[in-house]
Amino acid sequence: MTEQDFIPKSYTKEVGSGKVTWQSPSNIALVKYWGKRENQIPANPSISFTLDTCRTTTSLDFQKKEKGTDFDFELFFENEKKESFKPKIIKFFERVEEYLPFLKEYKFTIQTSNSFPHSSGIASSASGMSALALCLMNLEKQLNPGMSEEYFNRKASFLARLGSGSACRSIKGNLVAWGEHKNIAESSDLYGVEFQHPVHENFRNYQDTILLVDKGEKQVSSTLGHDLMNGHPYAERRFQQAHENLDLLKGIFEKGDLSAFTKVVESEALTLHAMMMTSQPYFLLMKPNTLEIINKVFDFRERTGLHLCFTLDAGANVHLLYPETEKEETLEFIKANLLQYCQNEQYITDRVGKGAKKLA
Ligand code: DP6
Repeated sequence: MTEQDFIPKSYTKEVGSGKVTWQSPSNIALVKYWGKRENQIPANPSISFTLDTCRTTTSLDFQKKEKGTDFDFELFFENEKKESFKPKIIKFFERVEEYLPFLKEYKFTIQTSNSFPHSSGIASSASGMSALALCLMNLEKQLNPGMSEEYFNRKASFLARLGSGSACRSIKGNLVAWGEHKNIAESSDLYGVEFQHPVHENFRNYQDTILLVDKGEKQVSSTLGHDLMNGHPYAERRFQQAHENLDLLKGIFEKGDLSAFTKVVESEALTLHAMMMTSQPYFLLMKPNTLEIINKVFDFRERTGLHLCFTLDAGANVHLLYPETEKEETLEFIKANLLQYCQNEQYITDRVGKGAKKLA
């Protein structure tokens, strides 16, 4: 599919008013998206586990009106009016208007809330942008009821990407790949696709315990972060490596090789941080406690032969990934040895989930 396929030709129905609510999860990248081109096109393909309990719930109330010159909406975050979130939504509406030509013909009320603690340092852009994209697609489906489910999901992911790149991986479940890769079926730079290749049962219900090491404001916005890859001395080799790591993961998922999984996933996390440390300007986003945790994870693995591994996003928090079959001993270890490195001992237990859902 191309961008043109997402521009509607005409609508078959008139819709006056209504309300839709969607709940969409966050996701955690195994191969990282870091670097992008014009129009939110990723510099390299990525793949993520869709999460389950870290979610955003968004409802969209819509009232038809005379077509205006500006977007007309109000925004509430956790029941409070949030003017400060509006510029981000306006930017998103501007980017998607070509694909959703009805946007200026409605007055919207957007109400949104997160299942995870506010300003926990957990990225809410993936769950937030995907939930909003799904609500807008739901309205488009009412205007065009003949739309197929596949088109609905692809376009929702396409729109979410224009809000925040990683958000396009939050529509569907389990494992989602985004970005063209020669060996990943149906992969596209425009939207995320469910990983369709064999996945061993070792990866079923994979666990993710998120340690909140630093809940402060993001030091580097994602826009600035991705920009650091322009002109970065190691960029081209890194983009190539992401393709190679996806090939490796494809084989690992098929065989169920948990040790090989650890090698790829931890290397991806450290490479992401290495890219930030070697860019101009440079950033060091790990905290001393991030390193304490990583070293304890290495020790635990060495001592027990279990398969706990870590990954990081562009911050100090640590995602601990492990198989469901090792949950008991691993969680016990985490609680006894790692919570001391978290702010106020805060952590979130999550696992792989099935993707977004519509609420009645
Ligand atoms: C480090 O999706 O937040 O989490 O497209 O600018 O909104 P924008 O960036 P964003 O970048 C996420 C980067 C990452 C890695 C990943 O999730 O793949």
